Amino acid sequence: MLLRLFALTALLFSAHALAAPARPVPPKLGVASPNGDIAVQITTDYDGRPSYAVSRKGKPVIAPSRLGFLFLDAPKFERNFVIAGHKTGTFDQTWEQPWGERRSIRNHYNELRVTLTEKNALKRSFDVVFRMYDDGLGFRYEFPDQAALKQVKIGEELTEFNIVEAATAWWIPAGEWNREEYLYHRTPLQEVGDAQTPLTLRTDSGLHVSIHEAALVDYAGMNLTRIEGRKLRADLTPGIGDGKVVRSAPFDTPWRTLQLSDDAGGLVTSSLILNLNEPNKLGDVSWITPMKYVGVWWEMHLDKKTWASGPKHGATNENVMRHIDFAAKHGFGGVLVEGWNVGWDGDWFGNGEEFSFTQAYPDFDIEQLAAYAKSKNVRLIGHHETSGHAAHYESQMEAGFDLYRRLGINAVKTGYVADAGQAKVIGSDGKLHYAWHEGQDMARHHLKVVTEAAERRIAVNPHEPIKDTGLRRTYPNWISREGARGMEFSAWGEPGNPPEHEANLVFTRLLAGPMDYTPGIFGMKTRAPDGVATTWAKQLALYVVIYSPLQMAADLLDNYENNPAPFQFIKDVPVDWEDTRVLNGEVGDFVTIARKDRHSDNWYLGAVSDEEGRELSAPLSFLDPGRSYTAQIYRDGPKADWKKAPEDIVIEERNVTRTDTLTLRLAPGGGQAIRFVAQ
Ligand code: NOJ
Ligand code: CA
Repeated sequence: MLLRLFALTALLFSAHALAAPARPVPPKLGVASPNGDIAVQITTDYDGRPSYAVSRKGKPVIAPSRLGFLFLDAPKFERNFVIAGHKTGTFDQTWEQPWGERRSIRNHYNELRVTLTEKNALKRSFDVVFRMYDDGLGFRYEFPDQAALKQVKIGEELTEFNIVEAATAWWIPAGEWNREEYLYHRTPLQEVGDAQTPLTLRTDSGLHVSIHEAALVDYAGMNLTRIEGRKLRADLTPGIGDGKVVRSAPFDTPWRTLQLSDDAGGLVTSSLILNLNEPNKLGDVSWITPMKYVGVWWEMHLDKKTWASGPKHGATNENVMRHIDFAAKHGFGGVLVEGWNVGWDGDWFGNGEEFSFTQAYPDFDIEQLAAYAKSKNVRLIGHHETSGHAAHYESQMEAGFDLYRRLGINAVKTGYVADAGQAKVIGSDGKLHYAWHEGQDMARHHLKVVTEAAERRIAVNPHEPIKDTGLRRTYPNWISREGARGMEFSAWGEPGNPPEHEANLVFTRLLAGPMDYTPGIFGMKTRAPDGVATTWAKQLALYVVIYSPLQMAADLLDNYENNPAPFQFIKDVPVDWEDTRVLNGEVGDFVTIARKDRHSDNWYLGAVSDEEGRELSAPLSFLDPGRSYTAQIYRDGPKADWKKAPEDIVIEERNVTRTDTLTLRLAPGGGQAIRFVAQ
């Protein structure tokens, strides 16, 4: 493959050339993606301020946008630079995911490394590295070891994204108290305030753009703040002392990423974020088991049971054994139990230091229950709610994981329920500090949890987590996470999740990675004013549409026992996939996704709509050639409507091949789920 690199020589516009004495125009360097569609140019202005610009298919997408930093303990790092050197390369390798939305992923990019050095006495330097893919690009700063730059306290990262075209934006606010648990705004780009990533844009000419980051390691999470017009700038999450980030050279920043696609579905099938992460560092990860699970959970959210001890305690031996029996009978791998450990009595939101991660409540016999589960070929899933007190958790974490390891518990859900800015960490001064959930200290904390857990062969599923930046590639035991409004909001939210919520998530939060959304609710009346705002068929479709290798059947067991026909889809649907295709979709409106099971020849399809009823065409050309399939269809019935008749579902079978096209009729707030059983 020809590497399309172009070094542009300085070209002066002739008018200027004639009028003014020549001043040397700074050089421009560029590189394009393997198919040539996406190109970047990097240059400096006459003051030596570095900038980059991106085009796609010859059309500008990102206008010249600045690069650089403000430091708190050294002069700023954003002007007086010259391009002191560059290097190019190309990379093409296909790797296999141990579990995932698809088995194999091609990592194919052209790289340009540009070294920028200050012209002044300090002569500090950094590299900006661009990796150009056919579906987008990533770039990061690399700070080499050097005399004039040792430890730095980064006050601001000045990276800009200066969007050329007018666009619609889907975004949630950054810096607000409820962390990542917000409904999505759909506004003109020019009305974005301070936004979290992934931020999704659709330009007026139809280009879909996702701005995010990859490999957030020992650095602050990046938000985007609108400076003026359509210009966004990085806004790093604050740290606990001076500097949003404190690092010593040599170090690299996370990748700043831009995924670009003509259609919304192309954002979903892009593997750019994973490709920009380091390969698996854990070696043999066959012990990580994607699975479906049930749990002592929804009943607490409905306030039928409590996490706290007392007459309504959910985590009792009897209740847990009932769940283990149910899991064994219906083929679920895990049983999550929340409220098992001491610390839930009183105001647990505010008192993370009261949690014990080894001491169970007396009515929960952890040894016996783990043994009982094992005898039925089921595993308990551990739970560590920390209330955001990362420091207290770290003081007991190893003991907590040792206990789980001894009992054969190989997955833990963690939780960080605390208002944003109210997590607690120990600083380098040895003192306790309040911290943001996505600051540098919490980035370190999460990686510590994941690596300590990995040593004991435990997978981790954090709620109220740090955002996903694809680190599951490097640490495959980081199996899922929450990090958005999950189903719990449909239990008690005011408001709950509206019908468009999942069609927003697929094209925003889920671009970052798997989400433990906890679907599968049939009991639609809850404490939320509108209850669960979907039809039953849509609840089933969510198992295909929302990717997670740990997928809960979240409802009360009775609702499954009483509705065996629709429950059958939840029993059948797998959680680990050979391949994934997006058949259609528009951000915030609807989406249809087809996935092939990794362990059989069967395919699955899920389609979800927002509050509109609609008809979607689903060509079955994804099915394997030369095979016929029995399509087990779970569709909205004629009266189905999330508000009036959510439970109206039709379950029927048809024989199909890849030459067929199905018309999917989705009710308002509806969906459709199909299992294609290979004959
Ligand atoms: C919030 C989590 O999202 C939820 O799943 C959990 O039940 C509670 N915290 C308690 O840990
Ligand atoms: Ca939550």
